[in-house]
Amino acid sequence: MTVAATDVPDFLSEAHDRDPQILYRHLREQEPVFFHAGSNGWLVTRYDDILRILRSKDITSDNYSASIGTVYGRTLLQLDGKDHQQQRGLIQPIMTGTALANYRPIVQRVIDKLFMPAFEAAVETASRDGCEHAEIDLAQSYLQAIPISVILELLDLPRENRSDFIRWFKDLMAFVANVGGDPEPIERGLKARDELGAFARPLIAQRRAHPGEDLVSKMCHTELNGEGLTDEEVQSFITLMIVAGGETTERALGMVVLNLLRHPDQLAAVRADRSLVTTAFVETLRYSTPVNIASRTAAADIELHEVTIPAGSVIHCILGAGNRDPRKFSNPDEFNIFRQDNSTEKGFSGAADHLGFANGRHFCVGAALAKAEVEVGLNLILDHMKDVRIAEGFTPVETGLWTRGVDSLRVAFKPA
Ligand code: HEM
Repeated sequence: MTVAATDVPDFLSEAHDRDPQILYRHLREQEPVFFHAGSNGWLVTRYDDILRILRSKDITSDNYSASIGTVYGRTLLQLDGKDHQQQRGLIQPIMTGTALANYRPIVQRVIDKLFMPAFEAAVETASRDGCEHAEIDLAQSYLQAIPISVILELLDLPRENRSDFIRWFKDLMAFVANVGGDPEPIERGLKARDELGAFARPLIAQRRAHPGEDLVSKMCHTELNGEGLTDEEVQSFITLMIVAGGETTERALGMVVLNLLRHPDQLAAVRADRSLVTTAFVETLRYSTPVNIASRTAAADIELHEVTIPAGSVIHCILGAGNRDPRKFSNPDEFNIFRQDNSTEKGFSGAADHLGFANGRHFCVGAALAKAEVEVGLNLILDHMKDVRIAEGFTPVETGLWTRGVDSLRVAFKPA
């Protein structure tokens, strides 16, 4: 379907926030390489074009130095070439394979501890009020706490500061997503950076002196080219883990649950065959892309559809648009866990069909950890809650330009 240009909301407008697919559909079909003046960047929306750019040798992620780099410090997201390979080589082994398998019981324990009190409180209130169904805001009482709690555990950061960490990663993410340059998110992001820095510095000194088994201690005592990491580098690692692992997975968790609630037949299928939990997650990464944008800098002129993107320009690869490209996915605007063109098996690797974890050399390093969190988090809901549905009178609101999801998700259920 094509939308008349006059009906198409601007990339930075509230109307776009309400339904980004109107603009994405228009751009993908009519202007697949579009210069957006408000964000001073080129929007690329077709699946194949996005893959080509993310895998190209003619791009860098230099653009992140000014955005992400300002608030995270220097992290692998903004690095290229050998620097990137080296930094990624430090992080990848502690986030995947055997290391991850060792974390699985920790992930299970952390999530159990979050679920049971929230579930029991909702059931108790319903029984006191004589209601057949209990009600709970799944996003606020449970799902939002999962990713940050897992990271605090793996990095051994103080659990009592969880709400500070959530505030910090929200404010840091708002800074990164602020492609229009509004002053308010800039101020909030810089404040969060400073507060997180003041918190991290004494902690790093303590882990250097008394290392434990946690990932901060590992970073404090690892070597790169025969030298240890500086305090700034360890601090950037902490920030990267909190934001990249917190906001993203939180958005994804809410949307997997919402997508299933909106498709009761598919929810029933997942309930009956739990291997489909992972499939529902992979389809959510496509259909409700939690991270919508991966930005790059053109290192040379790039020719695409007879348009020249000049060297030095910023390119926003719109993952959420590529993930709905009919050239790649049949009936792309349909959430369908039974589709054949979005492989579950390949869904957590660089060979994935969906673009939810981006692609190329910056492919998400936390994909396997996110998978573990979603599997454990969703299975607990299915184990303990039956007849789950969106609470009467509640309308879920999806929001967000860069990362996208729901802040609130009220559901009604019966204890299983
Ligand atoms: C569903 C959850 C997640 C989604 C949708 C997601 C998405 C993404 C995307 C799109 C990128 C590429 C950004 C770009 O190329 O500009 C990325 C990179 C990254 N992600 Fe994730 N992520 C998720 C979970 C996690 C978790 C749990 C962690 C770790 C705790 C993590 C750590 C990272 C890191 C470190 C990178 C940078 C990799 C590099 O630059 O080489 N992510 N993620």
